[in-house]
Amino acid sequence: MHSFLPRLPPRGSVRVVGIISSTASPLLSPSPSPPGVLGVSLMAMARDLHIVPADLADREWAARLMARSEPWITLGRTLATCLLVCRNPDYLMFVARRGGTRCGFVLLHARGVVGSPYLATIAVEDAFRGQGIGTDLIEFAEDYFRPHARHMFLCVSSFNPRAKALYERLGYRQVGELVDYLIDGASEHLMHKRL
Ligand SMILES: CC(C)(COP(=O)(O)OP(=O)(O)OC[C@H]1O[C@@H](n2cnc3c(N)ncnc32)[C@H](O)[C@@H]1OP(=O)(O)O)[C@@H](O)C(=O)NCCC(=O)NCCS
Repeated sequence: MHSFLPRLPPRGSVRVVGIISSTASPLLSPSPSPPGVLGVSLMAMARDLHIVPADLADREWAARLMARSEPWITLGRTLATCLLVCRNPDYLMFVARRGGTRCGFVLLHARGVVGSPYLATIAVEDAFRGQGIGTDLIEFAEDYFRPHARHMFLCVSSFNPRAKALYERLGYRQVGELVDYLIDGASEHLMHKRL
């Protein structure tokens, strides 16, 4: 039985009161386990924010959020392709909820880049942006992997400077540029942070 209490996030406004427990390391079981096997309950209490594993309905909501948002519109992602990504059981998804309302999500692969965790996608509903929820989701993901990993990676499109600024504020640095990677005329910037 493996269990750990994630490190308290550095932001004073967030209190972590939950516990993650699993029969195996999260790095060995990238899919969310059934309820009762993996229980995650992190509460950003000051903002009444709960970050919990996504169920299938959450994954379908996340795909719809992606399909109607930048940068995925410019990248040509349809609802069908977003559903494929979001339903992929190889990827962990956590959803941030305030009360009963879904605010945002983060999609993760435990070994996505040279064996290290990869933050594949993050999005927050328009109405909830700029309130720290994206920061909470990223810090949650870092805390989730930190006991088992030394590095974290993500990609950001060259035409998404606001998201890149957020990642840089959180300590990510560009370590590569994939030119014309998803669409012609745009790069994906590979970002790295030492956990
Ligand atoms: C990027 C995103 C997840 C951040 O979530 P958030 O809850 O708004 O983030 P926070 O409140 O913690 O931080 C705010 C910062 O996020 C970034 N941000 C805010 N709105 C954004 C938007 N529409 N697109 C990209 N980045 C944005 C900015 O850096 C902002 O800081 P600023 O207000 O000083 O410019 C969210 O804005 C979003 O879903 N954007 C659209 C999808 C996207 O770009 N995802 C990233 C793909 S790599």
